[in-house]
Amino acid sequence: MSWQDCGLTFKKWKRLGRFVASRSSAQLASEARLLARIQQQVPIEHTSTSIAGQKYPWTRVVNPESLLLNALAKSREGAVELDPFWAASWRAAQGLDQFLGTLPCLSGMRILELGGGSGRAGISAGIRGAEVLITDAVPTALMVCKFNARQVSEKVQVRLLDWRDRNTQLQPFPIIIGSDIVYDSKLFPILEPCMRRHLVPDGVVHLSEPQRHTGDRFEKWIVAAGWRCTSTMMDLGDAQRQIRIFSCRLT
Ligand SMILES: C[S@@+](CC[C@H](N)C(=O)[O-])C[C@H]1O[C@@H](n2cnc3c(N)ncnc32)[C@H](O)[C@@H]1O
Repeated sequence: MSWQDCGLTFKKWKRLGRFVASRSSAQLASEARLLARIQQQVPIEHTSTSIAGQKYPWTRVVNPESLLLNALAKSREGAVELDPFWAASWRAAQGLDQFLGTLPCLSGMRILELGGGSGRAGISAGIRGAEVLITDAVPTALMVCKFNARQVSEKVQVRLLDWRDRNTQLQPFPIIIGSDIVYDSKLFPILEPCMRRHLVPDGVVHLSEPQRHTGDRFEKWIVAAGWRCTSTMMDLGDAQRQIRIFSCRLT
């Protein structure tokens, strides 16, 4: 496997990671293999973004809308396609990243991310020192997420977790996070038991969303389901709606 196999020049590859020179050749080869597998699934581009207040190399899907259109077409044909929304970059994840920066001390905290998509919020928690498990139900999302998390791979793990799967046994977490995962009220009844199953008794779930009506509904729904819920607003400074963070605790 060479850099050319991944459609990259060595110079471009070097730009992708600050620590490429210090990585073992085994790590680099495994990242190159992962990249090649992603490229077999979706068209991607390499760019950079800001996470936890620092410049961070970012790989994203080119034209995520086309995945959505494909999924819609397949569902019209009767096939069930899991959520294609993982591929886009959501403002809610930026809001959660910013919110995590306001928490007193994440260093060493175990954090579970649900519906992590390409990984921005979980990676933010990893950069801030937490031990993070980013999960999603879509394997391609997890591959992109793992590639994006390579700079903090000692802090961030990824694994498949579908909220509907009641058999997964993970050691409960003191903090669970999720960005833009309460966008459809049909998901609330499968998301809530998953939160409950994976949270320690005095733990907290921080969920971000851009003040949609479904978010309003979620706030009422989660309280009726036996949780205390407070909200915090994060201003992204982009003249758009502030991002709302629900912090939910079991009563
Ligand atoms: C709108 S996207 C948000 C992605 C990411 N958190 C972000 O903010 O960029 C919703 C995410 O929830 C995931 N998701 C939807 N249903 C799920 C389920 N049943 N189990 C696990 N993840 C699910 C999708 O795969 C997708 O990554």
